[in-house]
Amino acid sequence: MTEQTQAGSLRRRVVAVTGASKGIGLALAQRLAAQGAHVIGGARNVDGLSVDGAEFLSLDVTDEPSVAAFAARCVDAGVDALVNNAGVGSFLPVQDITPEEYRRVMDTNVLGTILPTRALIGHFQARHAQGQGSQVVNVTSDVSARTFAGGALYTGSKFAQRAVTHALAHEGHAYGLRVTEIRPGMVDTFFGGTAQGEAFKAQWLRPDDVADAVLYALTVPAHLRVDEILLHPVVQEVSYP
Ligand SMILES: NC(=O)c1ccc[n+]([C@@H]2O[C@H](COP(=O)([O-])OP(=O)(O)OC[C@H]3O[C@@H](n4cnc5c(N)ncnc54)[C@H](OP(=O)(O)O)[C@@H]3O)[C@@H](O)[C@H]2O)c1
Repeated sequence: MTEQTQAGSLRRRVVAVTGASKGIGLALAQRLAAQGAHVIGGARNVDGLSVDGAEFLSLDVTDEPSVAAFAARCVDAGVDALVNNAGVGSFLPVQDITPEEYRRVMDTNVLGTILPTRALIGHFQARHAQGQGSQVVNVTSDVSARTFAGGALYTGSKFAQRAVTHALAHEGHAYGLRVTEIRPGMVDTFFGGTAQGEAFKAQWLRPDDVADAVLYALTVPAHLRVDEILLHPVVQEVSYP
C-alpha cells in the first residue's frame, strides 16, 4: 500500500486508538471498524468489549511496559495511524491541586500521548522508507489554547498536549508523518466521572461527532494534511483560538 492508495478509504487501514473503552474512543473504534479499518483499541478496562473488526488490549498509557506491549501488537499488525485519545479531566482551583492529582492528569494526558507515539515512531519511519505514510491524531480539546477558573490542571495538560502535537508535526515532517489535533468542545461522554446521556448534556456534541472529525483527518487524500479541527456544540459560547 503506497501513500497514494491509502487516501480516501479506511479499508486495509490499521488504526490504533487509546482510550477506546468508552466515550469518544469507543465511538471511534466502532466507526472505524464499520468502515473497514482494523482497529487496535487500548484502555485499562477492556473486559467484555466486542466490536466486529476491532481488537481490544489492556493498556495504561502512563505505564511504559504496558505501552510497549500495545505498540508491539500495533507494529505486528502493520499500524498506519495512531489516535491518542485517552484522557482524564480534573477541575479544581489552584489552591486545591495536589501533587497526586497533578501527576494523574499530566501523566495521562501528556505522558500518555508521548509514550504511545514514541513507541511507534521507529515503525512510522520504517514505513516512510518503504514509501508508506503514517498519521498521528491527538484528541486534545478546545481548551488546549484557552483557560478558565478551575481549569489550571486540565487545560495545562491540554496546552502541553497541543505543544507535543505541534512539535511532533515538525519532527515527523521529515518522515512523512501527518499529525492532526482534534479540539472538541463539550462532548456527552463519561468524562470527568460523569455519565453519558445525562439531561444537561442533551445539546452537547455526541461522541460520533468527534469520531467523524477523526475519520475526516484519516481519510483526506495523501497529499493533504489536516493540522487541526476545532468543533463545538452550537450551545457552547463561541471561542477562539
Ligand atoms: N468529553 C468532553 O467534553 C471532551 C471535550 C474535549 C476533549 N475531550 C478529550 O477527549 C478524550 C476522550 O475523553 P472522553 O470524553 O471520551 O472521556 P471518557 O468517556 O471518560 O473516556 C476516556 C477514555 O480514556 C481512557 N483512559 C483514561 N486513562 C487511561 C489510561 N491511563 N490508559 C489508557 N486509557 C485511559 C478510559 O478508559 P479506561 O478508564 O478503561 O482506562 C476511556 O476509554 C480525552 O482526551 C478528553 O480530554 C473530551
